[in-house]
Amino acid sequence: MLTVGIDIGGTKIAGGVVDQDGRILDKGRVDTPADTDALAAAVIEMARSYIDRHGAVAVGVAAAGFIDKAQATVIHAPNIAWRNEPLKAVLEAGIGRPVTIENDANAAGWAEFRFGAGAEVDDMVMLTMGTGVGGAVIIGGRMFHGGHGIAGELGHIRFTRNGLPCGCGQNGCLEQYASGRALQREAGALADAGGIGEALAQARAAHGGTLTGHAISDLILAGDPGALEALRRVATALGEACGGFQAVLDPELFVIGGGVAQLGDILLEPVRLAYETSLPGYGERPVADFAIARLGNDAGLIGVADLAGREA
Ligand code: BGC
Ligand code: NA
Ligand code: ZN
Repeated sequence: MLTVGIDIGGTKIAGGVVDQDGRILDKGRVDTPADTDALAAAVIEMARSYIDRHGAVAVGVAAAGFIDKAQATVIHAPNIAWRNEPLKAVLEAGIGRPVTIENDANAAGWAEFRFGAGAEVDDMVMLTMGTGVGGAVIIGGRMFHGGHGIAGELGHIRFTRNGLPCGCGQNGCLEQYASGRALQREAGALADAGGIGEALAQARAAHGGTLTGHAISDLILAGDPGALEALRRVATALGEACGGFQAVLDPELFVIGGGVAQLGDILLEPVRLAYETSLPGYGERPVADFAIARLGNDAGLIGVADLAGREA
């Protein structure tokens, strides 16, 4: 049985046709429209074209926002203009098939648990570092949704007091310190400061004043000290937060995904260091392993396709 999976992120919509073993047979990507009507239209068009070509039976849609317990409405989204958006009804009307809705990071975590880095464990936490910071909590082999459907919003724990304003209406959230956007902001600050930020400043000038994620990644992989310092800052924020998640949830494994995770071990090393040094009882307790998402940026669409297939 084939299912369609579509992952609506803060900057991109990724879609694909997925088989029962989590393999993608066909996939595509478009930019996320700012307008919510245009966004729904783009998802509907994508889903219909996959159904036309592959005859898939069910559709899963992962969305970067707070989904209600009925998994029908996006109550709030920090980085997309949805407020009480009846996403399931809107998409089902346009697609003409049942649509399963899940939070994007939950979907990614589910995919890693079923088919990827978490296939061997029962208790796992996923964190995605993209436009925002997403989280998924898998306890005893089951996804934890909480009392209102919104559990696992790990990017919106207060990381620091009186910190930067966040799209969720609060301030100091982890998302402001550990996302892809945070990496860009830190890199920009280092470029402004000169010194080790010189290569970042040059890359920014070369792209007409914008420091792109690609340019920062290239510099990180080339070992540039300024770019590595920017990465160390966001990795440290994420790792420190993981120490706190360990205290609450005690997972066996943290899986790190999202665009920033494409850096691989160069990201995990400072994350692990910050995690270990902020862990209550370190040295005298079992610690969790860390892994990069094995399904990369496709995890969300694979996970939500799998969830849709179970409901079909
Ligand atoms: C949202 C989450 C989402 C994450 C990653 C956060 O800002 O609150 O719902 O999972 O971004 O897209
Ligand atoms: Na989540
Ligand atoms: Zn927040």
